[in-house]
Amino acid sequence: MLDKTVQEAINNQIGMEFSSEYVYLSMSAHFEHANLPGFARWMRLQSGEEHTHAMRLFDFVNDRGGRVVLQAIAQPQSEFGSPLEVMQKALEHEQKVTAAINSMYGVAMKENDYATIAMLQWFVNEQVEEEKTASLVVEQLKLIGSDGPALLLLDRELGARQPGADGEADAEAGAE
Ligand SMILES: [Fe+2]
Ligand SMILES: [Fe+2]
Repeated sequence: MLDKTVQEAINNQIGMEFSSEYVYLSMSAHFEHANLPGFARWMRLQSGEEHTHAMRLFDFVNDRGGRVVLQAIAQPQSEFGSPLEVMQKALEHEQKVTAAINSMYGVAMKENDYATIAMLQWFVNEQVEEEKTASLVVEQLKLIGSDGPALLLLDRELGARQPGADGEADAEAGAE
């Protein structure tokens, strides 16, 4: 049985993952509009991954006999500046998510909830990747500066992103 404080923390995190899905989808729409289809595709896949994160937590709460309570999703920002500003926002967002996951981990530790701790390990590792990826694009955009052709090259590179393995794993988990 899931402890009430742990359940509340996970429900909050489910809300945060769905908010992330929405934030990145809004960024994807912005990039489509800005004629950067590679950035747009990257953000759209990112958005889809956030959905799988939310569902991973959703399934966990249900598996533990807990009660999922979905929260309202705030309207995401729709007007953005340069690609660098967008990616900096994405990085800051991931840093906030990392802090939230760390505090959720703390709640689970306090309650000696080993199943939740084990489940959250995946998220701790995932956040290392998330921050690393966003920060790499931020740094590359800084190098690019106002070099248009270089920006278009990066757009092509980001457009080559393929759906992540965790999304597929989640689809399998859902089929069980
Ligand atoms: Fe996430
Ligand atoms: Fe993320």
